[in-house]
This record gives sequence, C-alpha cells and structure tokens, in this order.
Amino acid sequence: MSTAPARLPEDFFFGAALSGPQTEGAWQTGGKLENLWDRWSNLDLTAFFNRVGSYGGNDMTSHAREDFELFASLGFSSARTSIQWSRLLDANGKLNPEGAAYYHRLFADARAAGVEPFVNLYHFDMPAYLFDRGGWENREVVEAYANYAATAFAEFGQEIEHWFTFNEPIVEPEQRYEHGTWYPFHVDFSRARNVQYGISLAHALAVHAFRELQAAGTVRADARIGLINCFTPPYTRENPSEADLEAVRMTDGINNRWWLDLVTKGTLPQDVINTLKERGITLPVRPGDEQILAQGKVDWLGFNYYHPARVQAPERNEDEFGNPVFAREYVWPEAVMNESRGWEIYPKGIYDFAMTMKRDYPDLEWFVSENGIGIEEDAAERDEQGRIRDASYRVPFVREHLRWIARAIEEGANCRGYHYWGAIDCWSWNNAYKNRYGFVEVDLSHNYRRVPKESSDWMREVAHTHVVA
Ligand code: BG6
Repeated sequence: MSTAPARLPEDFFFGAALSGPQTEGAWQTGGKLENLWDRWSNLDLTAFFNRVGSYGGNDMTSHAREDFELFASLGFSSARTSIQWSRLLDANGKLNPEGAAYYHRLFADARAAGVEPFVNLYHFDMPAYLFDRGGWENREVVEAYANYAATAFAEFGQEIEHWFTFNEPIVEPEQRYEHGTWYPFHVDFSRARNVQYGISLAHALAVHAFRELQAAGTVRADARIGLINCFTPPYTRENPSEADLEAVRMTDGINNRWWLDLVTKGTLPQDVINTLKERGITLPVRPGDEQILAQGKVDWLGFNYYHPARVQAPERNEDEFGNPVFAREYVWPEAVMNESRGWEIYPKGIYDFAMTMKRDYPDLEWFVSENGIGIEEDAAERDEQGRIRDASYRVPFVREHLRWIARAIEEGANCRGYHYWGAIDCWSWNNAYKNRYGFVEVDLSHNYRRVPKESSDWMREVAHTHVVA
C-alpha cells in the first residue's frame, strides 16, 4: 500500500470507545448491585493482574468532565460508553433513581464538553443475581434484559440519539461458556450456543422495544439503534483443502455471519444451524422465536477490530470433553504480533471486512467502533514533559488501520467513523491495568491522574485535518 497521506471524508467522525464496568468505579455507591465482574473479583482477586479487581474502573466517576474535555481536545466528536444494568435497575427490575441520575449527569457532562454520547446497554456485565437465575440460558433473564432496555429507552429517549443493544455478543458465550477463561469457566460448546441464542433473542426484543417507543414519541425521532461486534475477518492457509474451507465457514458462521444475518435479515444463518444440528447441537428454540428474531434488524452496525481469525481444519472432531471442534488455529508464518496482548496486528483485515460488507450487506452503514493497541510497560520511557513515549508504536498502528479504512471508503465502503478503544487508559477485565491502550495515561500511583501521552499530538492532528500522514 502507498505511503502517501490518505484522506478521510469531511463527515467521517472520530471518537472514543469505553464501557461502564471498565471506567466508572463507584462500584458500591448509588444503589449499584453486584455484577459478574464484582462477583469474580470478590471470589478470587488473584485471577486479576496485580490483584486489581473490578472495583475502581479508571475512576471516571470522579473525572467525567475532565475525560470528556480530553476527548474533545483530541478532536473526538463522540464517545461510546455503556450503562451498567446493575446501576440503572434495582433487584426488582425497577428504575434505580440514583442510577438514572448518574447517567443523566454523565451524558450532560459529555454534551457540555461538545462530545456526543453513544450509549450501549450491555458490555459483559450481567447483574450477579440474574446470573444466579440462569443468565442468558434462562428466558426470564432474556425478558428481564428487554425490560431493562425499555426502561433505559424511556428514561433517556429524548437525550440519546445513538443506541446499541450489545457490545461483542460473541464474547460471553466464548469466554464464559466455551473456553473456560472467564467466570464461571464452563467448557461446553452446546451451552455456549444456547447463550448465544439467548443473547440474540434479547437483542431482537430490545430493538422491538426501541421501535415501539420511538413510534410512541418516547424515543426521539432521529435516534438509531445498532449492534456492536468484534467481527473477525477469517483467513486460512494458502492452497486450502476442503476441510480448511469448512473450518473457515463455521468460524465465520458462528462469529460473524450469525450476527450479520440477525441484524440485516432478522434470521440466523441456516447452514450454521444445520451443521450444528448434524453435530448434535440443537438450539432451545420455542414457538414464536422466529417472529422475535425477525425484529432484530438494526439501523447501523459497530465493527470492533483488533485481529483477524486464522483457522484451518481441526485435527480431531471432538475435544476431550466431547465438544465438537470445527477449526483449529492456523499460525500464519508472516504474522506480526502485539506480544503484550498475544493478538496479531493485521490492518488490512479492516479493509477485507469492509469489502465483505460492501458485497454482502451493501445497504448497512457501519463504523469502526473499537480499534487500539494495548501495550505492557507502556510507561517504560517518558519525554522531558513526563509524557509516555508511545508514538513509535501507537501511531503506526492507528495510522495503518486508518489508511485501510480510507482506501475502503474510496472503494465504496459504507464506513462512517472510527472510535479508538480506551482512548484514556482503562481497566481491562482480568488483565486489569496490564496492557495500556490510551492516548492518555491513567497514573495509578497518583489517584488516577490523567496525563496525555506523546501519541495524543498525532491523533489530534489527524482528527482535526482528516489527513492520515
Ligand atoms: C474488546 C472489548 O474486546 O476489546 C473491550 O469490547 C476490551 O471491553 C477491548 O477491553 C480490549 O481487550 P482487552 O482484553 O485487552 O481489554
């Protein structure tokens, strides 16, 4: 690809991506209930890097105004965060007035700084008491989510224009139910798909509630609803066998097409459902579900991009627990890695996804809703102003991704903007503060003080000029 500066359209927006559970802190104030991250932290703090549990976030509760001003100073016109279900509702599913006041204040702080708040409703953070009732495998919890979403739409319907039902709905099925990496550590492919199905229904019910409340005038007429997922462009080895291509089909089917079909057609991919059935996995479908899923079509889509999926045919069809195996990792010899996170850096993946969208879902608008690089030892070197010297790795990472976005737009992709993940360092689940993503440091030894890093100058210039040099 040419190294000449690329130009992004005038109306292309830049912003920040964050989430409630990773920023807010204030975990036990204002009537906030325990969520799954608090639960896991309370059960076993040693599972968290440096024993930093869910409790503090990045203390955004005390820094909100400053944070939005920092975003604005970077040239960011919007910021996506999430409402925490465990803060907005009480344990009877009723509005917690203190929680509502919390978010009214937060959104007002964003606006006061000239930053448009984008609001997501769920970021891996189920209230623990609902998890105890079966979580996404229980229809009552799916319906409780629809009630939560409707309550949020009613409360903030006149304030918020950009809504999202879920962030990365594929992640909880995988991390909590399939790979056994997050509490409650299940390794059960079939349960993971049940959870995926439950989340799909919950998404569709929320979209339905949104449409009804918009028709009634409770939600503003210009509001839009979308879904955000970490779509992973799928690749395999050169000269693939039939079995390698089959591995790609199922990986792509479960991670990507499942959600893309849901949000564009209101259905789930039949070839995936058929293959699952052939392998003994049947989804807990009930009469009427088809009509529910049909409501799942969205107005636009968020694409979180960190790394591609490289897969090949599995060595065996079943693992030691009797779970079906559809693919195994393919280690591409040319892969460039972010060693801190163990993720491949492959900026062209963003372009390949854009071209797939253009070909298969041409009418759907989308934006890059997360992208970023988390580096351990980010603080290793500082300049004379005390700023972390991160430009040598953070700038090329963002530059290359933005260049591929610019090229995709030139070739007709419907991509509207770019949100950088963790623009201000934040708490990264069980990695806590191990890997830092920000253009702005959060100094943990000085009361979460915010200090812009070297890379922030470059980002500011690009966001203001739309020239990616
Ligand atoms: C995305 C999530 O998967 O990646 C964020 O939406 C997350 O919540 C981000 O923090 C970066 O991943 P990690 O695991 O390094 O924090």
